[in-house]
Amino acid sequence: MAIKMVLLSVVSVTGISGILAALLVIAERYLANYGECKIDINQGNKVLTVQGGASLLSSLGREKIFLPSACGGRGTCGYCKCKVVEGVGPLLPTEEPLLDPKEREQQIRIACQVKVKQDLKIMIPEELFNIKEFDARVAVLKDLTYDIKLLRLQLLDPPEITFKAGQYAQLQTKPYENVKDAVSRAYSMASPPSSQNHIDLMIRLVPEGICTTWVHQYLKEGEQVKLIAPVGDFYVREGEGEMIMVAGGSGMAPLASILEDLAEKKSERKITYFFGAVKKRDLFYLDEMHALEQRLPNFRFVPALSAPDPEDGWEGETGLITVPLQNYIQNRDNTGVQAYMCGSPGMINACVGVLTKHGIEKKNIFFDPFA
Ligand SMILES: Cc1cc2nc3c(=O)[nH]c(=O)nc-3n(C[C@H](O)[C@H](O)[C@H](O)COP(=O)(O)OP(=O)(O)OC[C@H]3O[C@@H](n4cnc5c(N)ncnc54)[C@H](O)[C@@H]3O)c2cc1C
Ligand code: FES
Repeated sequence: MAIKMVLLSVVSVTGISGILAALLVIAERYLANYGECKIDINQGNKVLTVQGGASLLSSLGREKIFLPSACGGRGTCGYCKCKVVEGVGPLLPTEEPLLDPKEREQQIRIACQVKVKQDLKIMIPEELFNIKEFDARVAVLKDLTYDIKLLRLQLLDPPEITFKAGQYAQLQTKPYENVKDAVSRAYSMASPPSSQNHIDLMIRLVPEGICTTWVHQYLKEGEQVKLIAPVGDFYVREGEGEMIMVAGGSGMAPLASILEDLAEKKSERKITYFFGAVKKRDLFYLDEMHALEQRLPNFRFVPALSAPDPEDGWEGETGLITVPLQNYIQNRDNTGVQAYMCGSPGMINACVGVLTKHGIEKKNIFFDPFA
């Protein structure tokens, strides 16, 4: 009886708290009026006047100032960091997991979580002013594998882009079926910076994924889309040492761009690229990689299959990509080696473990986890 009473009280308290929280959200959304607020950027370099109540990320976006954002404002990627010097309340629980103690000390906040409710003073790096919104037309949409498509976007307005090989674009979806709101997701540019009038993206279908389902099942050649670019700090750093590259699936995209760019620049650096796939049906861009081996004198492409079918007749490397990677870097001097990796966070974490175990310094390891 006593247990029943306790359970009943817990359920009632939880229910009432839930209702109150929902009422607060509704009141905040529909009743709160923060009026016009000023956002002072970089000590008066630019001052925006915005309608209060929206997130800092979207308020800036409406004024065509774009912060990096891979999750479209869901508070999961942590890319939209921004220094807020004045005008915000204490850190929100949704921001806490995305900020380390040093960032908190430096007044860094998660811009998609912070709301503009009064005048704000913020600081953003100058290079972010180069991120632009583009209108583009789908010029090509074709299969690379059974679950990866190549999407070529012809840029219309502005008609050209300048970016560093390795950076990404934020593609905006349109509403379809039950998805009523547009979302934006990050996709690395697979074409080289020299192709200024178009960008290629390689998009792997994520089951139930909002953007990838739209691209794979609803988007058509000829349609117009919007994107924001260039974003990100995944690009080749100065150095003379060997570059070790690792990718899986659509992680091929930024490395294809980087390799083509290096070939155009006639790079002589030693480059070894490990590409992981499950079966032969997951391999693509092999001809392009072999052509790059001809153009880059010190480049070697090493595909590996983790579970080839007997009918694949696979005679190359087998096992998870960490296996050929470890075999290659163990028992040698790895001083000056840089590593560049793209793919699932699991693959990247496993590879970082192997690289650091064999003497490659963390400061020389660069990656974009695709999550
Ligand atoms: C910097 C950066 C660059 C990227 N570049 C590329 C690229 O070049 N090509 C590419 O295909 N993707 C890339 N991604 C991943 C991409 O941004 C999306 O996360 C992915 O396409 C899923 O989007 P979605 O809207 O279809 O799925 P969502 O609707 O966002 O997610 C649906 C469900 O799938 C899960 N999920 C999300 N992403 C993945 C994933 N990758 N694998 C498995 N499950 C997932 C989510 O947790 C969620 O439960 C990149 C990500 C980042 C951060
Ligand atoms: S946009 Fe991803 S956490 Fe803010």
